[in-house]
Amino acid sequence: MKWKIGNVEIDNQIALAPMAGVCDFSFRTIVKSMSCGLIETEMVSDKAIMYGNWKTMEKLYMTDYERPISQQIVGSDLESLTFASKFIYENTNADIIDINMGCPVVKVTNRSKSGCALMKDPNKVKSIVESIVDIVPILYCRGSTCQALGQNLL
Ligand SMILES: Cc1cc2nc3c(=O)[nH]c(=O)nc-3n(C[C@H](O)[C@H](O)[C@H](O)COP(=O)(O)O)c2cc1C
Repeated sequence: MKWKIGNVEIDNQIALAPMAGVCDFSFRTIVKSMSCGLIETEMVSDKAIMYGNWKTMEKLYMTDYERPISQQIVGSDLESLTFASKFIYENTNADIIDINMGCPVVKVTNRSKSGCALMKDPNKVKSIVESIVDIVPILYCRGSTCQALGQNLL
């Protein structure tokens, strides 16, 4: 069954989960060839994009074949998340920007206060969303209060 996120048409209800270290270009292409409706990428760090880290830039490679495709970004700083969203929207084939608000990994939640740690601060989430929706047509926030609860973050 076809469905839509905003104006992005998706052929079926099979969506690839975003998985760090798994959803690289090769894996995504194989999954797409099996008729997956919506492709998700590995998460990339907002700061790495802001500072032009070349390994991160390589991760942003995606082809038309993979579309519709959603690029996940991880971060917690309003300025760099907004910069990274704009950069990805303007320079890649991404149809959807996905902000990671669900990752419970301690490295992510403690060090940069991102992933599900963002669930702790609804006002910050509001300002991030308000800033990014002005720039990209489709913003998706993948949150998880359950995972935040598991980390004693809420
Ligand atoms: C190896 C691995 C990496 C993952 N990386 C991410 C990630 O970068 N961003 C994210 O939102 N979720 C990530 N997840 C969570 C998955 O997207 C998915 O939500 C989770 O595995 C639950 O789905 P399941 O019940 O089908 O396993 C990851 C999961 C796995 C197993």
